[in-house]
Amino acid sequence: MSPALPPRIALYERTVAGSLAGVWENVHDWEHLPWLHASSFASIALLDSGDWGWRARVDLPAGPELEIELRKRDGEQAYDVTTHSGPGVGSVIATRLAPTGPDTTHVEVGFHIPGIGNDAAAGVGAGFVSLYTRLWDEDEGMIIARAEAETHDAPPVSQSLQADLGPRSEFGLPVSFELGGRRFHAAEVGGQPVAWAAACPHRHGPLPDTPDSEGCVLCPWHGYRFDVRSGRSADERNLFLGRAPTLTVGDDGHLRARLGPDR
Ligand code: FES
Ligand SMILES: [Fe+2]
Repeated sequence: MSPALPPRIALYERTVAGSLAGVWENVHDWEHLPWLHASSFASIALLDSGDWGWRARVDLPAGPELEIELRKRDGEQAYDVTTHSGPGVGSVIATRLAPTGPDTTHVEVGFHIPGIGNDAAAGVGAGFVSLYTRLWDEDEGMIIARAEAETHDAPPVSQSLQADLGPRSEFGLPVSFELGGRRFHAAEVGGQPVAWAAACPHRHGPLPDTPDSEGCVLCPWHGYRFDVRSGRSADERNLFLGRAPTLTVGDDGHLRARLGPDR
């Protein structure tokens, strides 16, 4: 039997535009907290994880550090997030999931917070509801985008593809374009036009169209960084961007993209 929860001071419910599997994938994805939810979390350090959930040390933007654990409830579409240390220690945020269609899931979140008197409960509860509204808005955007990316795999490129992006003098980089059903960004890096895959190779996050001063892009979902010229990870990970076209400016002044066949 689960231990008794502290009193529930507020309840938040919504329907999320994501399948039950997509929502569970998001729940187990601890790594996105300080990136997708940058206004709510400053950093995260994983302590343990498994099919049961995960446990991590989390820094809040204002400074305090918490240790939290997300644990699936056995045999239920539900999980509890318990604060083991730091502000709000002993709090349990209990979430139930219920599919309402193939691509929709009802989410019910109960905020069980110890030591809150009746006078303060409404205000503290409203704060949690407002925080979780924002977190689930951000999560829903990622769940939808990830599902779309996973269901729209571009077909293999069997022969060389070319695109005329137009007169170079008439538009400024960065620019985004499609070739062979794949989406790319192009910008000038070190005076040269460079194109790179718009989808992050980690989990399909939307890479930015503007590299930083070192020619790198940072994915907004989990903070992985890539060098757009080499396509390699720029943060000591071992990932590579998807293949990208080479760009040339022809004698007619047009910028052209050429993507060779997949091998
Ligand atoms: S999708 Fe995870 S870092 Fe890009
Ligand atoms: Fe999230």
